[in-house]
Amino acid sequence: MALRINPSILASDFANLESELGRIRNADLAHVDVMDNHFVPNLTLGLPVVERLQQVSPIPLDVHLMIDAPERWAPQYAELGAYSVTFHAEAVGRDSDPVAVARSLRERGARAGLALKPGTDAEPFLELLPEFDMVLVMTVEPGFGGQSFMPETMPKLRTLSQAVRDSGLDVWLQVDGGINDDTIGIAAEAGATVFVAGSSVFGAENAGAQVDHLRELAAGHRHGHR
Ligand code: DX5
Ligand code: ZN
Repeated sequence: MALRINPSILASDFANLESELGRIRNADLAHVDVMDNHFVPNLTLGLPVVERLQQVSPIPLDVHLMIDAPERWAPQYAELGAYSVTFHAEAVGRDSDPVAVARSLRERGARAGLALKPGTDAEPFLELLPEFDMVLVMTVEPGFGGQSFMPETMPKLRTLSQAVRDSGLDVWLQVDGGINDDTIGIAAEAGATVFVAGSSVFGAENAGAQVDHLRELAAGHRHGHR
C-alpha cells in the first residue's frame, strides 16, 4: 500500500496560504484543520476559506473537521470538491450516526474519514470499516499543532491495521499530531499509511525536501517490512 505524506497547513503562514501550498506541491494531499472552538478549544478556518484553497491548491485537500455537528457541515466540504473529508466519531450529534455522515460524503464524491481522539477505542467502529475510506488515529489531543506524539495510541493503530488487513478493504490509516523524523517510523511500523505533519514540514527551511525525507523514513519502517 502506498505511503502518503499530508502536510498540515495549520503550521503554515496564514497570510500567504497560496504560496505555502506551493511549498508542498510534492506532497500527497494538503491537510486542512477546521476547528470551531466548540469541539476543540481553538478556532481556525471554515467553508469560505477552504473553498478558495480548493480552487488554488496544486494538490488535493484532506479536510480534518474538529467541529460539532459534522452531519450538518461535512457534506458541504465534500460539495466544494475536497478529496477527503474526515470527521470525529465523538462529535456526531444524537440525531445522526457516523455511517449516515460517511454515506453523505461518498454520495458527493469525497473519501470518507473517521477520526478517533486518543481516548476513544477503535473496537466499536471496526464493523463500520466498509463505510469508510480512512480512519484517523489522533496521536495528540486535537486542537493545536506542535504537541508531542502519544505512543500510547499505537496499540489502537495496530488493532485497526489488523482489522483492515483481515477485511481486505483498502482503508487508509492516518496519524496526526507530533509526527516528525523521530516518530514517523513508530507510526509506520504500527501500520499507519498516511502521515500528517505540520510543524515538522512547514518549520523546515525546505518544506518539499522534508516531505521527501519523511516519506523515506516511513518507507524504511513500513509495517511488516522489518
Ligand atoms: C491538531 C491537528 C493537526 C496539527 C498537527 O489538532 O489536527 O493536524 O496541525 O500539527 P503537528 O504536526 O505540528 O503536531
Ligand atoms: Zn489534523
